[in-house]
This record gives sequence, structure tokens and C-alpha cells, in this order.
Amino acid sequence: MQDIFLEYKVVIVFLHVISAVVWVGGMVAMRYAAHQSFLEIESPAKRLERIAHALKRLFSIVIPFVIILLITAIFMIKGYGLSQSDFSPFSYAKEAIWSVMFVNLMVMILRRNRGERFLNEGNMVGAKGQIELIGKVMVPLNIALGVLAIFLGTFLSSSL
Ligand code: HEM
Repeated sequence: MQDIFLEYKVVIVFLHVISAVVWVGGMVAMRYAAHQSFLEIESPAKRLERIAHALKRLFSIVIPFVIILLITAIFMIKGYGLSQSDFSPFSYAKEAIWSVMFVNLMVMILRRNRGERFLNEGNMVGAKGQIELIGKVMVPLNIALGVLAIFLGTFLSSSL
């Protein structure tokens, strides 16, 4: 694995960075550009329907990048020997951040799916309950964790 990392280091680090850009950037665009625009839609049913649809698109775009982020991270852990180095706490911190972000993403997907089902059944209160938390808490939490992971990445990049 170390040999592969050394041979393809540029590609592996590039894939790692571009995955973070798509995942974190996608959430920022959704939360602070698209979502603000959706709030202008007067019909609550139509508004929730549009938000649910946009979230479905976002999640299907980011999932491959979330996986690439992890695979490239594993190559870097092995390639740099991070677990045996002085930088192991930073590596573990990034692994923990990825894990929390991943679980948060999975719960968001479940809530969105449930919200869409409630919408189709005409249960507006149920749909709102499922979808509201995604925009209010869960996406901002993942943005904050993503920014922290990027900061730790910058630190590692300038120290290794
Ligand atoms: C899964 C655990 C992770 C590990 C072990 C890890 C490890 C690393 C390492 C070793 C670097 C330095 C690469 C180099 O310069 O050669 C790096 C950079 C970077 N990481 Fe991660 N990372 C992880 C997760 C994440 C996550 C979740 C994000 C953001 C969502 C992220 C975003 C970045 C970015 C943007 C850089 C580039 C920083 C720069 O070049 O200045 N990483 N990461």
C-alpha cells in the first residue's frame, strides 16, 4: 500500500482534496444558497417537496466522494505511517470526524426518505418534522466538522 501511495501520491492527495471540496462545498451551497431560495416558495407542501428533492440530488452526488475520501485517507495513513508517527492524534481526530460526518449523513438520508414518504401520504407535520432538522442542525454540523477536518488536513500537509 505504501508503494502505491508513493507512486500515485499526487493523484491520491488530489482525490482526497477534491472529495472534501465537493462534500463540504456541496453542503454550503445547499444550506446557504439553495435553501434560502426555497424558503421564498409560499406553499409549504411545494417548499418541502423542493427541499426533499434537492437534498436527494445532493446526497447522491456526495456519496461517491465520501467513499473516495475514506479510501484516500487509508492510503495516506499507511503511506505516511501516520498511526506510528507523532501525528497519530491528528490522524485519529480526522478519522473520528469522518465517522461522525458519515453517521450524520446516513441519518440525514433516512430522515429525508421518511420525510418524502410522509409528504406523499399528505402528512405535512410529519414531513416537516423529519426534514426541518436536516437544514437547521445536521447540515450545519457537518459543515463545521468538515471545516475542522480541512484545517487539520492543512496542518498535516504543512507538517509531514
Ligand atoms: C478519514 C480520515 C482522514 C485522514 C486520515 C486524513 C488525512 C489527511 C492527510 C494526511 C492530509 C495531508 C496530505 C498531504 O498533504 O500529503 C490531509 C489533507 C487534507 N484533508 Fe484529510 N484526512 C481525513 C479526512 C478528511 C475529511 C473528513 C476532510 C474534509 C471533509 C478532509 C480534508 C482534507 C483536505 C482539504 C486536505 C488538504 C489540505 C492541504 O493540502 O492544505 N480530510 N488529510
